[in-house]
Amino acid sequence: MNAQDTTRRSLLGGAAALGLASLTLDGTARAAARPRARRRFDGMSVLITGATSGIGEATAKAFAAEGARVGFCGRRVSLGRRVEHEIREAGGDATYMRADVREPEQIRAFVDRMADRHGGIDIAFNNAGVGSGKLLHELTVSEWDDVQSTNVRGVFLALKYEVEHMLKAGHGVIVCTSSSAAEQARPNGGAYTASKRAVQGIVKSAALAYGPHGIRVNAILPGTTDTAFVRPPGIPDADWAAYKKAFGPLNIDGLERMAEPQEIARAVLALASDDFPYMTGASVAVDGGSTAGRKMVRPAGA
Ligand SMILES: NC(=O)c1ccc[n+]([C@@H]2O[C@H](COP(=O)([O-])OP(=O)(O)OC[C@H]3O[C@@H](n4cnc5c(N)ncnc54)[C@H](OP(=O)(O)O)[C@@H]3O)[C@@H](O)[C@H]2O)c1
Repeated sequence: MNAQDTTRRSLLGGAAALGLASLTLDGTARAAARPRARRRFDGMSVLITGATSGIGEATAKAFAAEGARVGFCGRRVSLGRRVEHEIREAGGDATYMRADVREPEQIRAFVDRMADRHGGIDIAFNNAGVGSGKLLHELTVSEWDDVQSTNVRGVFLALKYEVEHMLKAGHGVIVCTSSSAAEQARPNGGAYTASKRAVQGIVKSAALAYGPHGIRVNAILPGTTDTAFVRPPGIPDADWAAYKKAFGPLNIDGLERMAEPQEIARAVLALASDDFPYMTGASVAVDGGSTAGRKMVRPAGA
C-alpha cells in the first residue's frame, strides 16, 4: 500500500469514526461534517410531565432523537398534539396524553397507560411546574396552593406511580425539575422557592428509599431559561432579543446569558444516561453560574 492509499484509508476510517456523512475519493475530501447521531436511549420508555412547551418539549425531542419511546403530558391539548406531531415527523416515537399533575387519577392513568404501551418505564422526567412572582403578603392562599400543588404534589404523584413500575422492573432513573431558585431566593419568589426546595427534599428521600432497588433519583436546577416561563406573552421577537441581551450580564454572573431549553435538555439526558451510574440524590445546577455566587460591586469612591 502506498502513502496515498494509506492517507485515503485513514481519511475514510477517521470519517467513519466521526460519522462524517460523505467523503469522496477524488482527492478532495468533501466531508459534510455531520456528527454521528448518538442513540443512548434506543427502545427505552421515557415518561415526561409538562412537555407541551419549553424545557419539557426540548427534552422530549432530544430523547426521541436518541431512539427513546416518549410518553408525555401537559394540559394544553393543541400544543401536546403539535409536539407529538413534530417528533413523529422527525422519525421519533412520541405519545401525548392530556393529564394534570395535580390530579391523582389523571397522573396514575397517564403513567399506567404509557407503561402498558411501552412495556414499563425506564426513565421519568418530572418537569411540570408553574412560577409565582408575588411578595408573600400579596399572594392569595389559592395562588400559594396552586404553586405547591403543581410543583410539589405533582412531583410526588408522578414519582409515586412511576416508582411502582420501576420497583417491579428492578431498575429506573428519575430526574425532577427543581430550580436555581431553590438555592437563590428572591423577595417575590417565596412560594416558588419553597416548592423547588421541596422537590429537592423529595428527591433526596426517594434516592435513599429506592437506591437499593436499582432506581436513581436526581434533581436538576435550571437557571433562567428562555421559555414561556420567563418570556412575557406577546412580546415581539426583536424586543425579546434585546431584553435577553441586557438581562444576562445584569443577572447571571458567570456565563452572563439565559440558557436555551435545549441546553437544559442535554443535561437531563446526561443525568438519565448510563454515564452517571453512581449519581443519586444529587441537585445538579445547570444555571450558567448563577448559584455560584455574585460579583462584588464596590460603591463609588471605595
Ligand atoms: N424557564 C426557567 O427560567 C426555569 C428555571 C428553573 C426551573 N424551571 C422549571 O422548569 C420546568 C419547565 O418550565 P419551562 O421553563 O419549560 O416553562 P413552560 O414552557 O411554561 O413549561 C411548563 C410545562 O409544565 C406544564 N404544566 C404546568 N402545570 C401543569 C399541570 N398542572 N399539569 C400538567 N402539566 C403542567 C405545562 O403544560 P400545560 O400548561 O400544557 O399544562 C408546560 O408543559 C418548570 O418546573 C419550571 O419551574 C424553569
